Amino acid sequence: MKIAVIGGDGTGPEVTAEALKVLQVVSKKDGFDYQITPFDFGGERYLKTGVILPEGAIDELKSHDCIYLGAIGHPDVTPGILERKLLLDLRFSLDQYINLRPVQLYPGVETPLKDKKPEDIDFVVVRENTEDLYAGIGGFLKKGTADEVATQTAIYTRKGCERCFRWAFEFTRQRNNPKGKRLTLVAKTNVLTYGHDLVWRTFQEIAEEYDDVEADYNHVDACCMWMVKNPEYYDVIVTTNMFGDIITDLGAMIQGGMGVAAGGNINPDPGGCSMFEPMGGSAPKYTGQNVINPIAAISAMAMLLDQSGHPTSGKKVLDAVKLVTGTKMKSQSAGKMGYSTTEVGDLVCESLV
Ligand code: IPM
Ligand code: MG
Repeated sequence: MKIAVIGGDGTGPEVTAEALKVLQVVSKKDGFDYQITPFDFGGERYLKTGVILPEGAIDELKSHDCIYLGAIGHPDVTPGILERKLLLDLRFSLDQYINLRPVQLYPGVETPLKDKKPEDIDFVVVRENTEDLYAGIGGFLKKGTADEVATQTAIYTRKGCERCFRWAFEFTRQRNNPKGKRLTLVAKTNVLTYGHDLVWRTFQEIAEEYDDVEADYNHVDACCMWMVKNPEYYDVIVTTNMFGDIITDLGAMIQGGMGVAAGGNINPDPGGCSMFEPMGGSAPKYTGQNVINPIAAISAMAMLLDQSGHPTSGKKVLDAVKLVTGTKMKSQSAGKMGYSTTEVGDLVCESLV
């Protein structure tokens, strides 16, 4: 397995180091080899060279089986530039059409939802990752004048919906929730009467191929309500890109915050190159202090293993993470964990079976 590693900005490299430490230990235990290629893309390099992704970078990354990304975001770079030119460009050029975001409350982790337990908060959001408002279609008319007009067009394609929904149904089937297999489409068909009509019709059609999965629907606003009130209702959610972005931040909060939440940008096609990342940002103010929480980063490594042909190792890493959150860590907030960043990494390594 060839892994391209972009440690990135701020605390990104610190949490990445812990994820790599865990990878090394689990690979020894489970007897598989891997190769790491580090890349220095991120804010620092951009400030020095004026270039975010140099010529040929995409092809070089593509020659790896997958990418591990620590964090991007630099205090001296205008917000949005690195996100668009690095994160979004990679998602698009590598056609990573699935954004996979487990929302799981690990044992011992505090949730702001009163009385909710790990068994109540355990679902997965499958977010379409290449279309919708993220396609970057739009423009200005009479820019800078009092008559200015701006458009930003959401696009939904038959093919884009189909491949995402089919993947989500397969995923739900394989997840095989003992409480029942349910895939909830989250959209806004009552208002987005063209785009989400296509989304809805395609979902219905693909659902016919999966008798064993309950095909369910929620409007996005209702979904936000249920995620807070009855998160135990959900098994797998599939949704469009923009709504997916919003509800996954809500998901991250109910699972204990950005220090815990991990995500994968997946191209499931043969030879596809997927990218895994902790959801928290680069948290520059904590850089170099050995206080940032590496749990999300280690969970992202578990996802990488799970999606790259080593599901048993992925599960072992996740189990070790749960043991550490459940029996060792005092909190998931930076500086309040009861341990340093490197100590949490060590604890996860020691907990691996
Ligand atoms: C995410 C992030 C990105 C997104 C940003 C950083 C562009 O919020 O991965 O959810 O909007 O997709
Ligand atoms: Mg987001």
